[in-house]
Amino acid sequence: MEITPGTAAAPGSAAVDAAPCIGVFDSGLGGLTVLAALRRRLPHARLLYAADSAFAPYGERDAAYVQERSRLLTRFLLAQGAQLIVVACNTATALAIAELRAEWPGLPFVGIEPAIKPALAARAEADGPVGVLATSATLASGRFRALLAQHGGGARVVLQACPGLVEAIETRGPQAPRTLELLRRFCLPLRDAGCTRVVLGCTHYPLLADAIRDVLGDAVRLLDPADAVAAQAERLARALPPQARGGAGLQAWSNGEAALLLRVAAACALPIEGVLALPQESPEAA
Ligand code: DGL
Repeated sequence: MEITPGTAAAPGSAAVDAAPCIGVFDSGLGGLTVLAALRRRLPHARLLYAADSAFAPYGERDAAYVQERSRLLTRFLLAQGAQLIVVACNTATALAIAELRAEWPGLPFVGIEPAIKPALAARAEADGPVGVLATSATLASGRFRALLAQHGGGARVVLQACPGLVEAIETRGPQAPRTLELLRRFCLPLRDAGCTRVVLGCTHYPLLADAIRDVLGDAVRLLDPADAVAAQAERLARALPPQARGGAGLQAWSNGEAALLLRVAAACALPIEGVLALPQESPEAA
């Protein structure tokens, strides 16, 4: 799958002295697309991944729910030794990263936001409108509205929420007929509007890149900021103190179906060998 921008870093390019320990979380499988970019940029880091599949989708929940889940996952990753947290979820970044930063002022966080700026910056007059696929919660968030107001500059942007799509990926998988049927439904308005660039505003959607091209045509440019997120994590990792425990490697925890996670990880070329159980306590019980 070819997605732009996404210039892969040369493996081993990071001048990180000791193996940093980076915690990554998402509402489920989507953050694996970010984990893959982190792995390319930081092949010698220790990467910890938490998939909150039992509590997905975040994109159809309120801010308090997403903030509580994000707090729990951050606490969990810190307990495993994470020194830096990558919020590999657009919805959690939009609704919760400010609260996380307030709760852990000394801890570096990297979030992910829809790639509105690069999509609009490189746009030529002749280009069609820019399409944005994202969760309902991301599109409704103040953070997204501010991003659009800052970089939109009067350009035509077609916003498309995708209710049910993350749930379909989490319960049936990215290639399931129901997932592809829903995806097609959400892509048709972008095709009808003549969108030539589409911002993938949810980390689950790059898993569907080929299917999106099937609907929108091979000429469409899909914008996924995963590599930019990994580059920022790489910069921040340079400042981390050497880690006493653990070496490089990849460890995953999930409260969902481990077999599906392993399948999606393999499709992302992530060598995850096993998946441990992520505690399932509800936000209320925390
Ligand atoms: N991967 C999450 C995102 O980037 C999905 C949110 C959800 O669970 O609905 O927004």
